[in-house]
Amino acid sequence: MKGLILVGGLGTQLRPLTLSKPKPLIEFGNQPQLLHHMKMLKHAGVTEVVLAINYRAEIMADFLEKHQDFGVKITLSQETEPLGTAGPLALAQDLLDDGEPFFVLNCDIACEFNMRSLLDFHNAHGKVGTIMVTRMDEPAKYGKSVVVPHETGLVDRFVEHGRTFAGNLINAGVYIFSPTIFQSLSMRSMSMEKEVLPRLAEEEQLYSLRLDGYWMNIKKPPDFLMGTSLYLAYLQHHRPEELATALGEAADGNVVMAESATIGKGCRIGPDVVIGPGCVIEDGVRLARCTLLEGCRVCAHAVVIDSILGWRSTVGCWTRVEGVSVLGEDVHLNDELCINGALILPHKSMDASVFEPQIIM
Ligand code: GTP
Repeated sequence: MKGLILVGGLGTQLRPLTLSKPKPLIEFGNQPQLLHHMKMLKHAGVTEVVLAINYRAEIMADFLEKHQDFGVKITLSQETEPLGTAGPLALAQDLLDDGEPFFVLNCDIACEFNMRSLLDFHNAHGKVGTIMVTRMDEPAKYGKSVVVPHETGLVDRFVEHGRTFAGNLINAGVYIFSPTIFQSLSMRSMSMEKEVLPRLAEEEQLYSLRLDGYWMNIKKPPDFLMGTSLYLAYLQHHRPEELATALGEAADGNVVMAESATIGKGCRIGPDVVIGPGCVIEDGVRLARCTLLEGCRVCAHAVVIDSILGWRSTVGCWTRVEGVSVLGEDVHLNDELCINGALILPHKSMDASVFEPQIIM
């Protein structure tokens, strides 16, 4: 069985991190987002994965090179211009079409569920497509239209958010299609969400299946942090051995920590913290609901809450980072600063506080 992962978006909403790396390669829970999806597909029995890429092809090729022994054949399908979320399927038809249904995944979601159940459901109804849907309390926040299914799962229609409440099931960005889908696609910039899926629904060719596991869109920093909390809670229930166990009294909830990271004395770490490889956390540091990407240093008595630290960044002594701040790669914060809600572009040194949310060039 085959699967295609859409990895060609610009990831503008996750800047400044995406100024250094394409979004699919940004580590989520200490693994590139793309790797989580590749593992999920492999687990579902997929033997060939097509990566639909658009820009920064050389970085993706490098990733491929490093994962030669992943145990699944991986092929790149390279666009010369962005084809959106549906056009890349048409481009990859020769690679995907073996007469069998195939999976399609957006890369900027965090989720875990049984993909085999999606395949079984799809085979049972026999129509062109099946989309996973998930219930969200505030669907409008995710900029997606609501999916209105019949009791059987057949999608009646997609509804834009408006004054009338139409339900709160949204498209989760995970699909399975039979090869007849190619008749609805063309090799141009095409939107899966706005063009292809609504048309299939009109033709009564689209079913939906409720996702049973956790799900979060991880396009923006707050959602990235929320997705991390959900992922760590999932690990706690299903793979607790992947959570940090050596923190002793410093631990305060779910933490994932790379083996090569070090923690000083008298720290309090958690909940929902991810510490990347080579990070150094000095004495008396407080970390909560944050991700530290590879090679960060947090100096003594600093506090990092609700924030993401980009690769090789440093936080000075007694400095406080909070309010969904995101430090790009190689950002250095001096001692005794307060950084609240700042997005700081890569390779910047800061020696003044930022009290209000803003972008620092
Ligand atoms: P933002 O710029 O932050 O909106 O990110 P994005 O462009 O990645 O967001 P979008 O919702 O458009 O992307 C949904 C999924 O489709 C992601 O996995 C993207 O990587 C992917 N994607 C978006 N546009 C393209 C494209 O033109 N080509 C390919 N191959 N993938 C795309």
